[in-house]
Amino acid sequence: MFINICTILGLLTNVEGLPEVACNRLKIGESWYDRQPLWANIGRPYNLNVHRSSNSLFFSYSLPETYSDTDFQLAFFNIDSKDSQTIAGIRGGCSVAIDQLNDEIYLGGSDGIYKYNMLTKLADFYKEKGKNVWSLFYKKNLFYISYPDQKLHIEYDGKFATVKEFEGFEIDHFHVSSMNTIYFANKTGLYRYDNDKMLAKPVNELVTVRQIVEDNEGDIYVVTNFGVFADGKFEGLKKILDMKNIYGLAFDRDNNFIYSDEKNIVKLVYSLVGCDKKSLHW
Ligand SMILES: *[C@@H]1O[C@H](CO)[C@@H](O)[C@H](O)[C@H]1NC(C)=O
Repeated sequence: MFINICTILGLLTNVEGLPEVACNRLKIGESWYDRQPLWANIGRPYNLNVHRSSNSLFFSYSLPETYSDTDFQLAFFNIDSKDSQTIAGIRGGCSVAIDQLNDEIYLGGSDGIYKYNMLTKLADFYKEKGKNVWSLFYKKNLFYISYPDQKLHIEYDGKFATVKEFEGFEIDHFHVSSMNTIYFANKTGLYRYDNDKMLAKPVNELVTVRQIVEDNEGDIYVVTNFGVFADGKFEGLKKILDMKNIYGLAFDRDNNFIYSDEKNIVKLVYSLVGCDKKSLHW
């Protein structure tokens, strides 16, 4: 059995109904959004990442009929053309990282890292044969987290090495923001890493983090079992959405929210009207 982050996230899934809404809109912070389903009835879509220049969403999923923990696959969905494809050839395919500047799409599974070729639509083996790749992240360098030891690795001079500062503890999620703030999460909580003091500072030790993502304007969002939090540049971490069954979050080329729950991938489009009576009669 290939245990990786998708397995664990799947085990954490407890199916809850959506909050009751009078209309098909959702409030995030102070704004309302229309829900536009992109893909329905897909098993556990996780690890959402948008390749911006092609507006394609890459993510992992499993077949809804089986809910087997071993048959994870990677797929992409073009938000403009609605083209979709399952990416073949990656065993336990689960993780995604995108170098937006160089149009490189890295995919990980239970047997190493692959690169997706947009022209041939094939995944070519890249590096780390035999390594179970739990998670991938790209910022100037490619990072991955290995399973089961949960160690952070960085690609440097063509080779991968563990990140010394983080060797003493587990890492489940890793993110470096465009402001160079380092976030990471593990089973204990969410942390910010202070580069000068070389110290991990707890941000929240109650939540279980599912994804850390940055929008196109540099704001950080943290998807957790207690809802979605935003780390505003000045105000700190604030809950913006109380839905507990969000598992993945990404931003498309136009900075629209794309989220997933147990079975659906949904795009949110800003709406001038909300769901309460006052705004409906606006
Ligand atoms: C998670 O990271 C924090 C901060 O570095 C550390 O204190 C804690 O031991 C880590 N938890 C695990 C399970 O490694």
